[in-house]
Amino acid sequence: MNGSLNGTAICLKDVTKSFPGYTAVRGISLEVRAGSFLSVVGPSGCGKSTLLNVAAGLTQPSEGAVEIFGKPLAGINRSAAYMFQQDALLPWKTVRGNILLGPELRGADPAQAAQSAGEWIRRTGLDGFADHYPHQLSGGMRKRVAMAQTWIVDPDIVLMDEPFGALDVHTRLRMEGEILNLWAGSRKTVMFVTHDLEEAIALSDEVAVLSAGPSSRLVGVYQVSLERPRNLIDIKTDPRFVEIYRSIWSSLREEVLKSYERIQP
Ligand SMILES: Nc1ncnc2c1ncn2[C@@H]1O[C@H](COP(=O)(O)OP(=O)(O)O)[C@@H](O)[C@H]1O
Ligand SMILES: [Mg+2]
Repeated sequence: MNGSLNGTAICLKDVTKSFPGYTAVRGISLEVRAGSFLSVVGPSGCGKSTLLNVAAGLTQPSEGAVEIFGKPLAGINRSAAYMFQQDALLPWKTVRGNILLGPELRGADPAQAAQSAGEWIRRTGLDGFADHYPHQLSGGMRKRVAMAQTWIVDPDIVLMDEPFGALDVHTRLRMEGEILNLWAGSRKTVMFVTHDLEEAIALSDEVAVLSAGPSSRLVGVYQVSLERPRNLIDIKTDPRFVEIYRSIWSSLREEVLKSYERIQP
């Protein structure tokens, strides 16, 4: 664990990422404060996942650099755990078996790992489902398993790529609340990708807006100074939320319109 809430957890320095014949993001400089919750929003295809992959060390920037807690990132970011939109549960393992994967891969003591898995099964509301297989679970329950998988390895940084995009609106609201509860009780840094500006504001301390691709740039980073804990059910009608939404949307909307123009024949 990195005990300090001071300083910067993730620092992207003038990051450009090009694929053959296509530059996804260009010259992105972004800092995610240790212990904070930052969302990245932008039109579809603008390079949000690419940026998260760069922070995860799954892909190397073509230009620029990444620092994690002040140290240059080379290879996989071992301080981070990744939660994808499509949960990656192993169908032949039970809920408990899936939650135990991370500790097992890290060579944890089996008795300690079993105890920890039991705790995470309780904390994520999976009591009674420990011996179920993924196909026996609802979408929301599968997300709970994915959250337990992410949190059990106690990463300093959690990277989430549209984790709730495929859920119905009510399940999604519940899962968002549960993520905030988990995060609030931790000192973890979260970098959260979504195309949903309301979700980004409701959850985050800061919202980073990317422009339409190709060669997406950072349009701005907006502070969300709404107090916590937040009531996600009512927050969207709070006049201060509406005000923040308006100001961010005024820059995001132009980017969304540009991205529409580009996909028209
Ligand atoms: N491995 C890759 N090879 C080629 N192009 C890629 C690759 N990964 C992403 N891209 C392109 O980079 C752009 C940004 O992709 P992505 O980061 O997935 O966007 P977003 O997550 O914002 O929807 C897209 O145009 C995509 O096609
Ligand atoms: Mg994406």
